[in-house]
Amino acid sequence: MSQSELPSSTGIDPKWNRRYEAGDTPWDMRIPSRELTRVLKEGLIRGRTAFEMGCGTGTNAVFLAERGFAVTAVDGAPLAIEQAQQLATRKNVSVEWMIGDVCQVPDLRRTFDFVFDRGCYHCVRLVNLAGYLDSLGRVTHAGSQYLVLTGNANETREGGPPRLHERELRADFEPLFQIDDLRPFRFDDPDGPTGPLGWSCLLTRL
Ligand SMILES: C[S@@+](CC[C@H](N)C(=O)[O-])C[C@H]1O[C@@H](n2cnc3c(N)ncnc32)[C@H](O)[C@@H]1O
Repeated sequence: MSQSELPSSTGIDPKWNRRYEAGDTPWDMRIPSRELTRVLKEGLIRGRTAFEMGCGTGTNAVFLAERGFAVTAVDGAPLAIEQAQQLATRKNVSVEWMIGDVCQVPDLRRTFDFVFDRGCYHCVRLVNLAGYLDSLGRVTHAGSQYLVLTGNANETREGGPPRLHERELRADFEPLFQIDDLRPFRFDDPDGPTGPLGWSCLLTRL
């Protein structure tokens, strides 16, 4: 396992690390995302290399590594990455962990077949969408696939993650990606897919 530090002049909000410190992480289910599991099970993902944006405590990065992907994963909260490293050690898999800003991913001298984001993009787009898209462009090549799980503006319940309309997703991604599948889903709760309403969006880089 290796860990790289990204440039220190980042726009990462320190609240994220504080939330991991306080255990205020309602998104952190510690079970692989059911949506990620579904797309893999349905054979929708080609390729063997994966990059995760805002990986948190690493459950999904480790899950992908266990399924044979060579995985690189970045998060801005050092404490989350520390926990992710511990998980990978316990599960005996190798993941390249990076502490840094998803809006400033440096040139890694390689691109990835698959990019996954559960709950990072919908926060970061409110702060630095251009930086996020620039990073996304640099870690992908024509034909790369990208699965992004976001909040959904059609939610009627209180609370939950930032919400998007379909038109916002299209405006953000369609210049660089084609949308292959866009469907409502519910984020995982411990008991099942009964959390906040989201969008599951699978795209291919043009
Ligand atoms: C809602 S959590 C989701 C975490 C993880 N994907 C999961 O499903 O458990 C959002 C994550 O994005 C990370 N994050 C927020 N802004 C970031 C940034 N600019 N660069 C890197 N990570 C960021 C936070 O530290 C946090 O781990």
